Amino acid sequence: MEIHHHQYEAVIVGAGGAGLSAAVYAARGGANVAVISKLYPPRSHTGAAQGGINAALGNLEEDHWEWHMFDTVKGSDYLGDQEAIELMVRKAPEIVYQLEHLGLPFDRTPEGKIMQRPFGGHTRNYGEAPVKRSCHAADRTGHMILQTLYQNCIKEGITFFDEFHVLDLLLEDGVCRGAVAYEIATGDLHVFHSKAVLFATGGCGRIFSFTSNAHALTGDGLASVYRRGVPLEDMEFFQFHPTGLYPLGILITEAVRGEGGVLRNDQGERFMERYAPTIKDLAPRDLVSRAIYLEVREGRGIGGKDYVHLDATQLGQAIIKAKLPEIADFCRTYVGVDPVKQPIPVKPTVHYAMGGIPTDIDAQVIVDDQGTPVAGLYAAGECACVSVHGANRLGCNSLLDIVVFGQRGGVRLAEYVKGADFAPLPPEPEAWSVSQIERFLKGPGDHQEKIGALRAEMQELMMRDVGVFRTEEPLRQALAGLKALKARYQEAEIDDRGHRFNTDLLEAIELGNLLELAEVAAAGALNRQESRGAHYREDFPQRDDANWLKHTLACKVAGQIEFSYKPVSITKFQPKERKY
Ligand code: FUM
Repeated sequence: MEIHHHQYEAVIVGAGGAGLSAAVYAARGGANVAVISKLYPPRSHTGAAQGGINAALGNLEEDHWEWHMFDTVKGSDYLGDQEAIELMVRKAPEIVYQLEHLGLPFDRTPEGKIMQRPFGGHTRNYGEAPVKRSCHAADRTGHMILQTLYQNCIKEGITFFDEFHVLDLLLEDGVCRGAVAYEIATGDLHVFHSKAVLFATGGCGRIFSFTSNAHALTGDGLASVYRRGVPLEDMEFFQFHPTGLYPLGILITEAVRGEGGVLRNDQGERFMERYAPTIKDLAPRDLVSRAIYLEVREGRGIGGKDYVHLDATQLGQAIIKAKLPEIADFCRTYVGVDPVKQPIPVKPTVHYAMGGIPTDIDAQVIVDDQGTPVAGLYAAGECACVSVHGANRLGCNSLLDIVVFGQRGGVRLAEYVKGADFAPLPPEPEAWSVSQIERFLKGPGDHQEKIGALRAEMQELMMRDVGVFRTEEPLRQALAGLKALKARYQEAEIDDRGHRFNTDLLEAIELGNLLELAEVAAAGALNRQESRGAHYREDFPQRDDANWLKHTLACKVAGQIEFSYKPVSITKFQPKERKY
């Protein structure tokens, strides 16, 4: 394996919406930028975001940023940081118009305005009824954002290292010095010496078995940062999107319900009327996912199985063709269901990590409750926790988050590198990465444990014990199970010992990341003795603001996870009981 060396002022790891936004604005700010991406950029997972991006434009009905802010705070179960939320929702209209001017082909109203539709938890006048807030390009909004931003990166002449897998963050004495990546095509290692690194590597939904997340979502950025001693925030909060296509888990956009589709149980009943009488099927995701699980538990799943129906038949062919073409294709192709004529089988699917690398509103990574920064280290998008989603994200706030905070991160990065020097690299900066690769390429070959089998065990365990409903004993079992899996991972081997496109090796490295993050999520879930947003403890079914209105910071100290806490920023909206 050869070792290559590069020097860039700023390195951005990840080329989804957050990474590309950061890259455009860092380059415009004069920074010399390189983007490292595990995938060819237009294949990044932002492309899978279907329904839209929120902004209180009020194009079809009255709307205000204050209503958007209130819905986001309430949706977050009051764990979202209100300073960051206010900034995001106030900026939203400008961001949408910027994207439009960069070339994004939004759907239009008959008068030519940007088209909007309702999404879960977004309401008019502080909870009265659903409001049309999500701006969209059919059900391919994320795909369009990704293409638009990528084209603009090309225009800025940004250097891309495509199909480079990040292995390590170079961080010493609290100062970021670069990153190490593995070139998938050759098996070579690349040391990137930089003044700053911004992680935008997305989520880690692949710690679970039933997920809308692509295979690449293995938390590489989160794990790299965590291993170097940076805490992870609020990792116990994982969102289950109510409508994953059964039996695959891929996303069926909430826009189906936004356009008028409804959920039905085995008796044909529109059961959300019982759980959220005001906004029914457009309740937030935590609530709808729990309702589906309860229907199934009480024997009202379709045919006694663990799924329900999403009925869009009343929308008619024309609406489905114009507004939901992608999901109609998915349904026909993958499960042979034509949503124009038949209900879609759906089950909650792991969709989004609310937690991540703690940052301030400029994407600067911070390590404690005092806001202490790590010099030169930034994060944005799903891998970051700023925290605008708190305990439960509202639909279409994630595309907004990635563009707003990606952009702010890019601007800040450019300012930072202007005034910073290149901190010296540690001796042998590639050493840890080499050891990880060699352990798999030079193992004894007696095939004690297989990566695929270990990954499947981890994913099933997480699904079973750290899922929608949680209680103490299964969580303890999950932690013990993960510990055993981590020990077995040390004995695991791979078949392919080659250097070129060694996907066996990549999967092995990814599993190391996933196991680390699964453990943090399970430990966080055991630690938080209350129910809030997506984290529902059957043994602690109430939200407990007196003890738990705080963010969790999980850090690895001498091999053990230690928790500390950070206060929630509360500015405009005091916590209240959450009813829909
Ligand atoms: O349902 C959806 O279209 C997903 C959107 C989101 O996660 O924001």
